[in-house]
Amino acid sequence: MSDKVLISPSILSADFAALGQAVRDIDAAGADMIHIDVMDGHYVPNLTIGPDVVKALRPHSEKPFDVHLMISPTEILVPLFIAAGADYITVHPDAGPHLHRTLQSIRAAGVKSGIVLNPGAPVEQLDPVIDLCDQVMIMSVNPGFGGQSFIPSQLDKIRAVRAKIDAFKAAGGHDILLQVDGGVNPTTARDCIAAGATSLVAGSAVFKGAGTYAENIAALRGDALTKAA
Ligand code: DX5
Ligand code: ZN
Repeated sequence: MSDKVLISPSILSADFAALGQAVRDIDAAGADMIHIDVMDGHYVPNLTIGPDVVKALRPHSEKPFDVHLMISPTEILVPLFIAAGADYITVHPDAGPHLHRTLQSIRAAGVKSGIVLNPGAPVEQLDPVIDLCDQVMIMSVNPGFGGQSFIPSQLDKIRAVRAKIDAFKAAGGHDILLQVDGGVNPTTARDCIAAGATSLVAGSAVFKGAGTYAENIAALRGDALTKAA
């Protein structure tokens, strides 16, 4: 691990009646990105945020918007999230219909692209599209809800993806963030970082953790706040 791990708080755990304030607060508390969970009630059994909300939040922070699309089909709605101001768009390979073209279109718009591997998905899903990914996300819970428990078997998948990214880079490829999403708290964060993660999503641990947002973010990095400040 070279650099400090990135923290991308998920506003899924924020007060939905005050999302603008939540984004400003986690920005000020040291978030590296803002994680926005988009759910359609079809690909996952929950409904959350659409492109108009992303657009409305855009003026509240200059930090990258890390938009996690849990919608099927994915491809037809991607342009709306690009127009709304997404900096990263991460998609589920099985949400379809054409993963390769979806990733191409995200990158062609100058936006960072990523794929998400669900807990039941094989690591090989990455192989045909690694050259089109700026980020690979490992889901350490099944997608749809915040507040679930970390699935420990996903640590092996993080290690396997770490090896694939390192091999890709050693062969001259670009850098790729390795992100973990779901059940990340200060304890599981340590395991994820040791396994090779470079970016951590956390909803409950930031918004409902024991300390201030800044303390909760620092704890995920493995820093005491005084050391991080
Ligand atoms: C779940 C979402 C996660 C969720 C994480 O489908 O993708 O981003 O907000 O929430 P916690 O950190 O509470 O597990
Ligand atoms: Zn997410």
